[in-house]
Amino acid sequence: MKKLIVLVSFLAAVFILVQCEKDPFVSQIEESNSEATPYYLKVPQGFPDYFLKQENALTEEGVALGKKLFFDPLLSKNRDVSCASCHLQSSSFSDPRQRSIGTNGTSTSFHSMPIFNLAWMNEFFWDGRAKSREEQALQPLNNPLEMDLGWNEAVERLSSDPEYPSLFKAAFGTSIIDSNLAAQAMVQYEMTLVSADTKFDAWLRGEASFTLEEEMGRIIYNSERGDCFHCHGSVLATDNSFHNNGLDSDADLKPGLFNVTQDEADLGKFKTPTLRNLAFTAPYMHDGRFQTIEEVVDFYSDSVQNNSNVDVLMKKATTGGLGLNKTEKEALIAFILTMTDSSFIRNPLLVP
Ligand code: HEC
Ligand code: HEC
Repeated sequence: MKKLIVLVSFLAAVFILVQCEKDPFVSQIEESNSEATPYYLKVPQGFPDYFLKQENALTEEGVALGKKLFFDPLLSKNRDVSCASCHLQSSSFSDPRQRSIGTNGTSTSFHSMPIFNLAWMNEFFWDGRAKSREEQALQPLNNPLEMDLGWNEAVERLSSDPEYPSLFKAAFGTSIIDSNLAAQAMVQYEMTLVSADTKFDAWLRGEASFTLEEEMGRIIYNSERGDCFHCHGSVLATDNSFHNNGLDSDADLKPGLFNVTQDEADLGKFKTPTLRNLAFTAPYMHDGRFQTIEEVVDFYSDSVQNNSNVDVLMKKATTGGLGLNKTEKEALIAFILTMTDSSFIRNPLLVP
């Protein structure tokens, strides 16, 4: 057995050496992570396995560094806006304002998105323009509507800070700070924002039962009557895909996914948001046009726009929507609110 372990370690060492020659970036992480303490992210019962690039394995030190960066206004031009300014824990890491305000005092183009369960997503932003969590995390500093600092300046600020170099050293084995390591640390922190402590999850485990109203809502949600499950299905309450859900008529279609694909059939398609934690994430939709869940349900029931790109799953688009009665609407909302995780927005471990 010992011999086998020696052999396996030897082969692993050879493999790492070969990797080092090919890709200095990966080798740096492989070597450096050896000192850091692995952070084990627990997959909630019933959730699928998550996707994580191997070279950004979570460590206690990496997560702690990412958390500090996420909450640090040092990363914005005027030292006044951090990631957390627009992604507030009390709002399930979204923003109660319809538009967030960046370091230049200007408004963002869209409503801020909630940040949780990112471990089970592969495309980011309303239009899906970031294809990895790391790519996403690099963007706010370059965005003039958000932090507008640029990474050269950010790296300078971090490098001359009394604390950061040793924190990078602890997390990645190097105090030579760069944008990729900073983004990786922020992603490590984001990965720990897992929200699954709801009545709905307890019900899935057979540990809670729904009221008659919630059960009626569950059936509407998961049947052709409401059809929500087609896009907001699975334990994640989203298909993580892009759809046009009929918010606007042809004349008012915003680009959405078209920004990425340049395909006219993608005009007005946006990333399907999860319906978990809606109690905390108002206002709703990419532009935050609806203030309440009631308004959202009224929209799906009574005012869906039958534009050229409206999704085939919005089957009642030609008649303005599902035509739910008052009892059905209330039941649907009661069910959706079983996906509320109050412990998540109060968890002291998620803030510095
Ligand atoms: C000024 C406000 C603001 C700041 C600062 C900000 N964000 Fe955002 N964030 C937004 C808005 C608005 C969106 C949606 C923008 C879009 O889709 O174009 C968003 C989207 C995201 C998403 C995509 C979530 C998803 O489900 O696709 C992630 C992740 C994210 N932000 C993380 C961060 C991180 C990390 C930082 C700090 C480096 C940060 N944000 C700073 C406002 C902000
Ligand atoms: C064809 C796919 C599809 C179907 C079916 C669907 N939705 Fe959506 N839903 C979306 C998309 C896409 C968005 C984001 C649209 C946007 O912002 O432009 C969205 C947004 C929402 C939002 C806003 C969430 C937020 O964080 O802003 C709520 C609430 C919602 N849907 C509830 C429902 C309910 C309830 C049903 C069933 C009655 C339903 N949806 C059916 C695709 C769908």
